[in-house]
Amino acid sequence: MLTVENLGKRFKIHALKREVVAFEGLSFTLQPGQFIMVSGPNGAGKSTLLRCLYRSYRPTAGRALYVSSQRPIDLVRAADEDIALLRKREIGYVSQFLRPRPRVSALELVAEPLLHLGTPQEEAERQAAGLLEALGLKEALWPAFPSTFSGGEQQKVSLARALIRPSRLILLDEPTASLDAAARQALATRLSELKRQGVGMLGIFHHPEEVAGLVDHTLEIPPAAPLFAPERQTVA
Ligand SMILES: Nc1ncnc2c1ncn2[C@@H]1O[C@H](COP(=O)(O)OP(=O)(O)OP(=O)(O)O)[C@@H](O)[C@H]1O
Ligand SMILES: [Mg+2]
Repeated sequence: MLTVENLGKRFKIHALKREVVAFEGLSFTLQPGQFIMVSGPNGAGKSTLLRCLYRSYRPTAGRALYVSSQRPIDLVRAADEDIALLRKREIGYVSQFLRPRPRVSALELVAEPLLHLGTPQEEAERQAAGLLEALGLKEALWPAFPSTFSGGEQQKVSLARALIRPSRLILLDEPTASLDAAARQALATRLSELKRQGVGMLGIFHHPEEVAGLVDHTLEIPPAAPLFAPERQTVA
């Protein structure tokens, strides 16, 4: 479902007239139902890789051919509108941090992706409650605003929001960093269900043993060398 060829990302540091190489020459394939663990030292480019595939960053080299439910599409060159549709319908991303919005409750934040897909409000909230309960967020907090939640509570909302709707590809950037043991277990159970349903996943996990039973392959990103490269023409 995803074929990545020679993918690379450099950041322009304008003040220094230099480029930082986040990662280079990455090639791998992901099949439906596979889980690839992304590993490597701090700064190797793990988070940047996931952001490139979600297109929060635009890669500067290579291709990432994703076979969507509609047609194959190169995530490197796809138009922003196509990426927006993929994010709405097929590709999920969980970061370590939630971006709470003022005066939007935890339950609303989690139900929102389903509402966007046309699910009736009552059903969307029922599913949101089920997922928050499974992840162990106290019921008293469901109608509350996540901006004041603890780090772990925010992470539960962030995970529930990302996992509530059907996806074909899920990108997980250290989603367990602030979770207690019960929530980590609930997440592992949920991920293994999704895997059985054919969802492909790429994940960064600080403690690989948390997802040991789920990993099909490990993608080791070596430290980028050289760290700094002179500025050069980037791929369109
Ligand atoms: N927006 C940015 N602008 C400039 N450089 C960046 C940017 N984002 C990341 N980098 C650089 O790219 C490199 C890779 O960063 P990244 O966050 O992907 O590493 P990581 O493998 O996820 O590390 P960690 O294990 O610490 O989370 C780092 O050297 C970082 O400084
Ligand atoms: Mg990271």
